[in-house]
Amino acid sequence: MIVASRISKIYSGNGNEVRALDGVDLTIQSGEFVIIIGRSGSGKSTLLSLLGGLSRPTHGSIEIDGNDIWKMNDKDLSKLRGHEIGFVFQFPGLMPTLDVLENVILPSSFVEKREGVGDRAIKLLDTLGIGGKVNSFPHQISGGELKRASIARALINDPSIILADEPTGDLDAETEMEIMEVFRQMNDEGRTIIMVTHNPDLSSFASRVMRMDTGHIRLEAR
Ligand SMILES: Nc1ncnc2c1ncn2[C@@H]1O[C@H](COP(=O)(O)OP(=O)(O)OP(=O)(O)O)[C@@H](O)[C@H]1O
Ligand SMILES: [Mg+2]
Repeated sequence: MIVASRISKIYSGNGNEVRALDGVDLTIQSGEFVIIIGRSGSGKSTLLSLLGGLSRPTHGSIEIDGNDIWKMNDKDLSKLRGHEIGFVFQFPGLMPTLDVLENVILPSSFVEKREGVGDRAIKLLDTLGIGGKVNSFPHQISGGELKRASIARALINDPSIILADEPTGDLDAETEMEIMEVFRQMNDEGRTIIMVTHNPDLSSFASRVMRMDTGHIRLEAR
């Protein structure tokens, strides 16, 4: 379970302040499939980065399974991020000097050795429809393939929480549905999914849809 209590994020720099999140309360139960929608700049990516422990709230607290993550020591927080959380970034960056397979396997090197990680990576890439690109380098694949490789990378450590920031953003409708089926299966297996999208047609995949508006959650529907 993830519990965010009165979280705010204020970005300051070059003289102006942006209140990207403004006192958000949110509880997400294990196994939920939450979709977050909202206009550009409303704070969706900021919210995901806070829920995933990638960025620290200016005010408020985030608990994951009963632990206040910013009261944990660095080692335990890294371990939580590495084992339990899979993050699909809005703007995925792969390491340019590693091929697709090596990029997908990379996060597993930060957790205890897992048997058969190479096979698992190949299987994930196959499921995501880019099994033919395992030995290509990032500059040799398309934007949508890059996105799919970054989804495989987020899933390699078998996380219990998947945070996905517009994971189907650059994809055609057919590929988008294939990716959504992968997320649906992940969710059926008990994983928590929190996903940002601009596509209202994807709401049917969610157990809960939240709309963000300038730093607030304005509307929740089940
Ligand atoms: N690192 C940063 N420094 C300063 N301001 C930031 C930073 N990151 C985000 N912002 C600002 O915070 C607000 C929320 O940004 P955020 O990226 O969370 O929006 P979003 O809802 O994900 O938008 P989009 O749909 O365009 O991805 C915006 O006004 C943005 O300009
Ligand atoms: Mg965003």
